[in-house]
Amino acid sequence: MICYDIPDNHNTHDSFCFIMLPDSQNYVKDKKNICCFESQIGWIFKNRDKLKIKFVTHVGDLSNNDEDEEQFKAGFFQLGKLNGAVPYGICAGNHDMSADGSAPYFEKYFPEAVGNYRSDWVGSYDGNKHNAQIITVGGKQYLFIHLAYIPSDGAIEWAAKLLSDHPDSYAIITTHAFLIKDWSERGVARKESRVSLTDIRIHKDGTNAGEDILEKLVKPYPNVKMVLSGHYVGRDYLEIKVGERVVHAILADLEHEQPYGGNGFLRILQFVPSEGKIYNYTYSPMLDAYKLGEYDSFVVDVN
Ligand SMILES: [Fe+2]
Repeated sequence: MICYDIPDNHNTHDSFCFIMLPDSQNYVKDKKNICCFESQIGWIFKNRDKLKIKFVTHVGDLSNNDEDEEQFKAGFFQLGKLNGAVPYGICAGNHDMSADGSAPYFEKYFPEAVGNYRSDWVGSYDGNKHNAQIITVGGKQYLFIHLAYIPSDGAIEWAAKLLSDHPDSYAIITTHAFLIKDWSERGVARKESRVSLTDIRIHKDGTNAGEDILEKLVKPYPNVKMVLSGHYVGRDYLEIKVGERVVHAILADLEHEQPYGGNGFLRILQFVPSEGKIYNYTYSPMLDAYKLGEYDSFVVDVN
């Protein structure tokens, strides 16, 4: 259902927000665009208490070039501003990893050691390309699992154990590529999907496309309630039904918005338990503008 509204109107006693940051590669590739990233983080700080922002999740492709250290430095400088203020996680995107699957700069600026200083941290896998956090809101546990682009079987097993170990949590998987909305294709990305397993910037042992994540993690584990992704340019929503269970899958990649390669758009996921609703907004703090398309601003039932 389309929702022409703003978060202020549903800022109730029990509401809270998670923020989804789409691919930021163009913000760190071109210095003129870094203002977009700055405005996103600045807006989160400004609204943290008012909108009760509890977590920030980045879908990957922090950088545009895995060999350009300056891009990682700039990107993690922005995310790092959240340290101690708002817990966050990020998965490695295809642009964050080299052809052999290594991600030295991603791991240099977002090392496993960050977990030593964070109470929300529950682990990481293969360096820190995959990582997980747990927060509690309103007495409920929210488990965030960040899975890098086309995750390996080992990463899938790591995530499965986390889901199994926290059966009562509301689990949200953020993975770089899950939903696709393309000229010829729409839905959960397949192995054959565009720039998927044929992309040269791929984890060398990566074998699990969106359809595999669906089969191996989403379907078997009833605590998985949401899958967030970027990579494929566009915005979309898919309601996945697994028996009686509804899983919300959300795609947001706005990297083609010009002139700033994304224009600072972020996704606000506003949970309002007293209404039984989750409001989704696509908002740019830099432009102070909402996108109001069917898959930009919409409301779904709390699942
Ligand atoms: Fe990507």
